[in-house]
Amino acid sequence: MCIILSLLLDKIYLIFITLLLNFHSSAAQSWSHTNQNSWSGSCQTGQSQSPIELTDTAVISIRLPDLILENIEYFDTVDVSNNGHGVTLNFDRSTSAQPRLYFKGLSFADFTLASAHFHWPSEHSINGELHNLELHFVFYSTKYATLTEALEVPNHVTVLAVLYDCDDDDDPESHVNFEIINNAVKNVESLAGSTVQAAGGITLKNLLPDDYQSFYAYNGSLTTPGCNEGVNWIVLKDSVDINEHDLENLIDNILTSTGEELTFNNRNLQPLNGRIIYST
Ligand SMILES: *[C@@H]1O[C@H](CO)[C@@H](O)[C@H](O)[C@H]1NC(C)=O
Repeated sequence: MCIILSLLLDKIYLIFITLLLNFHSSAAQSWSHTNQNSWSGSCQTGQSQSPIELTDTAVISIRLPDLILENIEYFDTVDVSNNGHGVTLNFDRSTSAQPRLYFKGLSFADFTLASAHFHWPSEHSINGELHNLELHFVFYSTKYATLTEALEVPNHVTVLAVLYDCDDDDDPESHVNFEIINNAVKNVESLAGSTVQAAGGITLKNLLPDDYQSFYAYNGSLTTPGCNEGVNWIVLKDSVDINEHDLENLIDNILTSTGEELTFNNRNLQPLNGRIIYST
């Protein structure tokens, strides 16, 4: 049995517990996915926040040049870490062949990969459904030296989102190979703040669906505090299957900085506020 339902129940239960705790204690808390209503700044006041509901009846169809992803074959040095809010993959920035994202012929908008991280269950919903897992590849414009600098300028950060569905099939050929990520996750101290190198490296392409030319695109925000706006979102329509054991391993090994199991780390859906969702 795949676990999305139990995840949702856990979430409801946790929200309930959080409400009780907040009722009894006014102590300031650092941000967490259980206290989303108290996230500050743009998270509260922004009008172009992410994630959103992606519904095929509410999109504008467009034709775009091909989405090009370069240097996504094999990456030797990848650090896997638990930052207390999830699992982050950091790629060695000293190698020359950095992963790159751009649209064919549109060389003025050229993005390089900063890092990647997972949310469970998914943040975006497609036609009313959440998926089990969502991977965000965070890219920023090559015009800037760091992600932080690029975040200051509207539309110079692009997040490529991949959705994963849990499947019960034990045939390893039928789903994405998470073995290396999982081995690293097992070695990451479950508590927040620890990092290990993924032994054997990671082939980024294997984390993507075969077809990445079908997607939704819209103008949104980071989904964690400070919820910076002006982020280009590309959410791939084709999801990837992930084995149930791999999914559970990823989720079960990760504890928050206060030692609780991180049962979910998706942000609630945000209002569209008249923004346009494009669909290829
Ligand atoms: C995206 O939204 C931000 C504000 O949230 C705005 O500054 C920017 O101009 C928008 N970009 C586009 C292309 O609409």
